[in-house]
Amino acid sequence: MAKPAKTFVCSACGSVFPKWAGRCEACQAWNTLAEQEAPRTLPGGIKETARRAGAKIEFVGLEGITPPPPRVPTTISEFDRVLGGGLVPASVVLVGGDPGIGKSTLLLQASAALGRAGQKVIYISGEESVDQIRLRAARLGLSKSPVALAAATQLGDILASLAQVPDAALVVIDSIQTMWTDGVDSAPGSVTQVRAAAFELIRAAKTQGFSLLLVGHVTKDGGLAGPRVLEHMVDVVLHFEGDRGHQFRILRGVKNRFGATDEIGVFEMTGQGLSQVTNPSALFLAERRGNVSGSAVFAGLEGSRPVLVEIQCLLSANPSGSPRRSVIGWDSGRLNMLLAVLEARCGLKLAMNDVYLNVAGGLRVSEPAADLAVAAALISAATDVPTDPEMIFFGEIGLSGELRQVAQAELRLKEGAKLGFARAATPKRVAGGAAKIAVPKTLSLVEIGHLTDLVGVVTAGKKPGQKEE
Ligand code: TYD
Ligand code: MG
Repeated sequence: MAKPAKTFVCSACGSVFPKWAGRCEACQAWNTLAEQEAPRTLPGGIKETARRAGAKIEFVGLEGITPPPPRVPTTISEFDRVLGGGLVPASVVLVGGDPGIGKSTLLLQASAALGRAGQKVIYISGEESVDQIRLRAARLGLSKSPVALAAATQLGDILASLAQVPDAALVVIDSIQTMWTDGVDSAPGSVTQVRAAAFELIRAAKTQGFSLLLVGHVTKDGGLAGPRVLEHMVDVVLHFEGDRGHQFRILRGVKNRFGATDEIGVFEMTGQGLSQVTNPSALFLAERRGNVSGSAVFAGLEGSRPVLVEIQCLLSANPSGSPRRSVIGWDSGRLNMLLAVLEARCGLKLAMNDVYLNVAGGLRVSEPAADLAVAAALISAATDVPTDPEMIFFGEIGLSGELRQVAQAELRLKEGAKLGFARAATPKRVAGGAAKIAVPKTLSLVEIGHLTDLVGVVTAGKKPGQKEE
């Protein structure tokens, strides 16, 4: 290894020179240059001088009260709900979602709302021109809202401009994949660029104290660097999802350092942008027809909010021996399990049928509590008897066909009663088991102990094929 070269450092200003001189050329101070060894690089790339004697860290106890972070409500309550009550100053929120799902629309609406509430809002787009955004704002009726708008992608320019606005409350970057910094030698959109750009923006947010909303694209073919690398760096990750064929959009919390993660916000894409859906159950059930077999209403739970959805099922004969199982909005593994349990425990013959299962409205259900509703829809389809149109279903089913309690039964029952349902099929409460639940007055419980009882409940009082008027 070559002998390390000597360098000279000014003790007043820290400038480094290859030669000694009586006066520092940088700060003009006299007699301040001192000799030092040039840093040697250790294996692993650690500079030797970096291994300084560390300062002492103060260790503290777990006790101590920090006031809860103040919140800035965006006044879009569905958005605030997912955030946990509003934006936390100096926090960083990543909003991910498929292209065209409505991320830019949502953030423009949130920016305008916050601007109208008197906050200083900056919206920087790297994807659309100022004219395009103005056109959208005009369509959404937001042209008069005070939002500082710019189309830019060069991070240096953006950071320098943000530094001029010390009182900014919110900065929107649409999208992080289009931002690039010339400090990094790689193409815009690459993982390195995205990470470097995000790092600098986050640092600016933390030092200047504005909330940062980053848009991140997720592409199916992975063309752009996915926002996954960012998920570790930000405080809150939200997914904006939905089916482009449906008007519903769901904003889902995936990570939240300041609140619960399983909340959802429900929106509807209309001609005038996204409108909030405060009663999602009514919307999801709006197109339900009570007199069709193969349908059952599931009383589900999304975060702290009950949501009623219709589970639809269609069977069609397929004697080939290799039937199709097609599921939209639910877990296909779980459907196969239920089909097996129905065959084994209830004697329902489904092996010669294609099974199509759909959660109406484009919602994705992940709760095992949907088992009972799915089973009811399957039994109804197999027997061609419509389920009771005034009944909701919820409960988990085990492999032996037994029914199990699920969480938050009261909330589900209350939502059912609110929407005018008269009966609820639920797992039987065992003596000494779960705590007593309050049942709304207008609703009666139909408690089911085993899956075989469900067949009786679904087909009660009706001959197969009999339809209601
Ligand atoms: P956009 O917010 O641009 O999506 P993203 O930023 O996630 O890529 O909006 C996408 C779609 O929303 C677009 O295809 C058209 C539709 N849309 C409406 O239906 N109504 C509206 O008022 C607006 C602004 C958009
Ligand atoms: Mg966009």
